[in-house]
Amino acid sequence: MKSKYLIRVILILAIIIIIGGIAKFIFTPKDFGNHGSLFYKFYRLSAIDDELKRPIKHFTNSSCIKCHPNESKMQSFSVHKSVSCEFCHGAAASHIDENGKYIGKAIVVKKKDLINQCLRCHNGIIPARRIRNVVKTILYPDHLKNMKVSLSHTCDQCHIVHAPLKNIKHVKKFFEKEGF
Ligand code: HEC
Ligand code: HEC
Ligand code: HEC
Ligand code: HEC
Repeated sequence: MKSKYLIRVILILAIIIIIGGIAKFIFTPKDFGNHGSLFYKFYRLSAIDDELKRPIKHFTNSSCIKCHPNESKMQSFSVHKSVSCEFCHGAAASHIDENGKYIGKAIVVKKKDLINQCLRCHNGIIPARRIRNVVKTILYPDHLKNMKVSLSHTCDQCHIVHAPLKNIKHVKKFFEKEGF
């Protein structure tokens, strides 16, 4: 009696192994497993060609210079020189095709979205940012309260986005004298 059940279990296991083996044979790419060390051949040579065929979506800041010399120059001489244009304006490939043709609007955020964009790097609420002091942080809206300005102000009303400290001394003096 007992062996009858045992045989069933063994049969089921055998079927699973056979189906698995057939599936492995069908679905494993032909050039998988030919390269590598004796016991570690988990490598598919054509993976490199597949990666090379992927369209390039992101470019460096210098790719923007020829069409946007003003913003590019301004930023490259500013504290923001290390910040990627694409972080704020989206992937280059959605804006310009490989022939340099304009194919879509680059992202330009405003108002609340702009504040959030700046805070993604400068938010003092994120403890790691504050303690490590890699990027100077502010607390929002305390930063505005300290200057006694209306809380409806957006960051770009005082900081030039592409050169955030340019003219900031004048801005500071202005607010200390006049308020807003
Ligand atoms: C920190 C975010 C940020 C970065 C980084 C940034 N920009 Fe901007 N950019 C903005 C914002 C926000 C505006 C909208 C104008 C404003 O608020 O002063 C803008 C405006 C522009 C405009 C004008 C858009 C219009 O409506 O006419 C161009 C062109 C531009 N940026 C190009 C660049 C280039 C090129 C770089 C890289 C060298 C860059 N930006 C880096 C945030 C950024
Ligand atoms: C081959 C030229 C070219 C390149 C390269 C280029 N742009 Fe533009 N960009 C344009 C044109 C054309 C416009 C529309 C300008 C106008 O209306 O004044 C534009 C507009 C913009 C605007 C305003 C929003 C819009 O789409 O109208 C931003 C922001 C911008 N570009 C950012 C960038 C960034 C960042 C890069 C680099 C990753 C870049 N551009 C690369 C040609 C270019
Ligand atoms: C992708 C991250 C990033 C974003 C987004 C960003 N910044 Fe910056 N910012 C930096 C880095 C990096 C520096 C240089 C390091 C530093 O001094 O904090 C910097 C420097 C600054 C400084 C000078 C700090 C100092 O006293 O040295 C100001 C002001 C500033 N950014 C304002 C802004 C504003 C306003 C925005 C939104 C338009 C913004 N940043 C968006 C990364 C960012
Ligand atoms: C009313 C004008 C004003 C507005 C609006 C404003 N700032 Fe500032 N910000 C300043 C001034 C002025 C300084 C320089 C302060 C100083 O030197 O004491 C400064 C300094 C900074 C610094 C450097 C802080 C440091 O520790 O050195 C950062 C980062 C910054 N601002 C980010 C922002 C961000 C992000 C926003 C939007 C949420 C913003 N600012 C909105 C006026 C402003």
